[in-house]
Amino acid sequence: MNAIGQPMSRVDGRRKVTGGARYTADISLPRAAHAAIVHSRIANGRTVSIDTTAAARAPGVLAVLTHHNLPHMKPVPWSHLHPQGQTYLPLQDDKIHYAGQPIAIVVAETLDQAAYAGTLIKIEYEVDRPVVFKPQMAREAVEPAQRMWPLRSSVGDAEKAIADAAVRIERTYTMPDRHHNQMEPHATLALWDDDGTLTLYDSTQMVVGTRRLASLVLGVPEEKINVVCEFLGGGFGGKSWSWPHTLLAALAAKAVNRPVRLPLTRAQMYSMVGHQAATVQTIALGSDRDGKLTGIRHDSVSPTSVFDDYVEYAALASRHLWRASGGISTSHRVVYVNRNTPVVLRAPMEAQGHFALESAMDELAYATGVDPVELRLRNDTDTDPYSGRPFSTRAMRKCITEGAARFGWDRRTPKPRSMRDGRYLIGQGMAAAIFTHWRWPAKARVTLNGGGSALVEAAAHDIGTGTYTVMAQVAADALGLTPDKVAVRLGDTRLPESHPAIGSSTVSNATAAVMLAAQAARKKAVLLALNGRDAPFAGAAADDVIVADGRLSLARTNLSTSYAELLARNGLSNLVGDGDYDPVEEVNGPKAVFSFSAVFAEVRVDPDLGLVRLSRVVGAYDAGRIINPKTARSQAIGGIIWGVGQALLEQSETDPMLGRFVNRNYSGYLVPTNADIPELDALFVGEFDEEASPLGSKGLGELTAVSVAPAIANAVYHATGKRVRDLPITVEKVL
Ligand code: MOS
Repeated sequence: MNAIGQPMSRVDGRRKVTGGARYTADISLPRAAHAAIVHSRIANGRTVSIDTTAAARAPGVLAVLTHHNLPHMKPVPWSHLHPQGQTYLPLQDDKIHYAGQPIAIVVAETLDQAAYAGTLIKIEYEVDRPVVFKPQMAREAVEPAQRMWPLRSSVGDAEKAIADAAVRIERTYTMPDRHHNQMEPHATLALWDDDGTLTLYDSTQMVVGTRRLASLVLGVPEEKINVVCEFLGGGFGGKSWSWPHTLLAALAAKAVNRPVRLPLTRAQMYSMVGHQAATVQTIALGSDRDGKLTGIRHDSVSPTSVFDDYVEYAALASRHLWRASGGISTSHRVVYVNRNTPVVLRAPMEAQGHFALESAMDELAYATGVDPVELRLRNDTDTDPYSGRPFSTRAMRKCITEGAARFGWDRRTPKPRSMRDGRYLIGQGMAAAIFTHWRWPAKARVTLNGGGSALVEAAAHDIGTGTYTVMAQVAADALGLTPDKVAVRLGDTRLPESHPAIGSSTVSNATAAVMLAAQAARKKAVLLALNGRDAPFAGAAADDVIVADGRLSLARTNLSTSYAELLARNGLSNLVGDGDYDPVEEVNGPKAVFSFSAVFAEVRVDPDLGLVRLSRVVGAYDAGRIINPKTARSQAIGGIIWGVGQALLEQSETDPMLGRFVNRNYSGYLVPTNADIPELDALFVGEFDEEASPLGSKGLGELTAVSVAPAIANAVYHATGKRVRDLPITVEKVL
């Protein structure tokens, strides 16, 4: 029986729920000291003086480091950023560019002593008025000099197509800043060995990238740095970049010649590490009277820090989702403000872009009188409008039709305010989505042990999605073992180099490398059975060897041997297979690879209170072959809940005068709780996609967070007749 396709429970589930899983801040090292960061209260200006006298004399204090005595770091060249992150390094000079910028780090015997001593530091500032982002600033936005991808795109003549169209829609949609709010705060534990080797236990989505960055900035060769992260208590993109505290922990450990443990406070989680930038997006659609698109224009503006060109590529969605006969154009611009550099947040680009595009599509449905489901079917395309390449697989039609069937869309009456349950207005809305399929190179090692068990090793991550489990399934099938015989080790740069846990890419890339490594180990075993000492299958063909249940057997014979016997006979304790997956060539291949979805939402709106309650959601997904339906379903449920937060609750507020994020705790930042979440239904309609990955899978995790917000916003319109174009949909916007 194949392990792939089985709804296996997480192999690390028991450890996690019993407290056996050690997260970064749980790790204790002998002689470890503790550190706390003192950060800027102002958002723009400089420090005139920093008096650390009292702090240095406080109980337990080992060191107080500021820009006066911290060793200088080497600047990070922008090209090394991946994904886009903050290049500005902490404690290098007296300048202040954002509230929450580190000013000092205190190291003490205990965390409380470090935090207390921090409060004794006297800082005098020269304060300049901060530049604070407001949506009206979109008019002054500019194109940044540095960019990851083209800022603009133009296929055909969108402007003309829209001008000539029978039906035109032009609307602006806005979304606020959001924070990741991982339950596990960022934390680093830094340790220098006597030989100068630096080990960073770090809560990160990229052990390899963190090692590279630390090497560049600290001037330590990569071979002398280990980065370790076995478990993540939430990443969501916020840990896909190294923030200042990681480097500060390393330098502090060097300064006191002891290991240093540095967890961020909850408040610092809103100011010292990344966030999702607000967007102001304008969409213009042109269509014929039947709702067939003739033109799409999508322009997005987002704020970034004063020192980095972070672009939120929200208009990407419109390049790829629907066909428009006359043309599609997109653009991205930024506004430089006093804040730290934004970063990706599940699902970057797409989740914001689809709110605008799929809300506009709903507006077009009402403008043309075409049902929203039918409108999408009419604009479906087999060819990527941006590149002109055919999609490898695109089960969009299935997502829409099967999702609609499961939801019962045919019972919906299209007119706003036409469906009621007592005093509640019922609204039903839908939205579709396309999500970039990311491909990264990845290595893995699989060791087949004499006892008939196997070990998978890779410097990849389980960000909480079930990677340990899925890798065990994949290796088990390739080796003919049951998954319980496969152990998986991840999150350590001493293991074969893999990619960051970003872009919902781990199954398709890192896990593909595991499959290749397991196949290589199996091949070695097969060769031993054919040609090794006292070869049991001597003279037979490799293709006739069947591997199952920890045994090798020869087709059409009763000959068989176990891995254990085979290794013992050859005097080997193990067989090692190396996997090296390099999909780079395929990126520019003949096919465009994306995953797809359609999301259907129903809301109940209290007409007197403006309160929106979600009553059910159906998501239909094309993410290629599903390796584990149980963890995949968990992804979908998590993604929908994430989208509910975006739609109804989440926003980070900035003080307009002080330029600070005012959210400092969960109490001031609403996320969905169980009481907000109704029955959720996920169905998977994709098929094996050989272009996407040797495993046939496409990115899933972030896809499921996309188009939840427009489905809900469209449902709110259907319920109330009120079009909310500014997230989150709070009561005052509904009333
Ligand atoms: Mo995901 S926001 O690409 O970590």
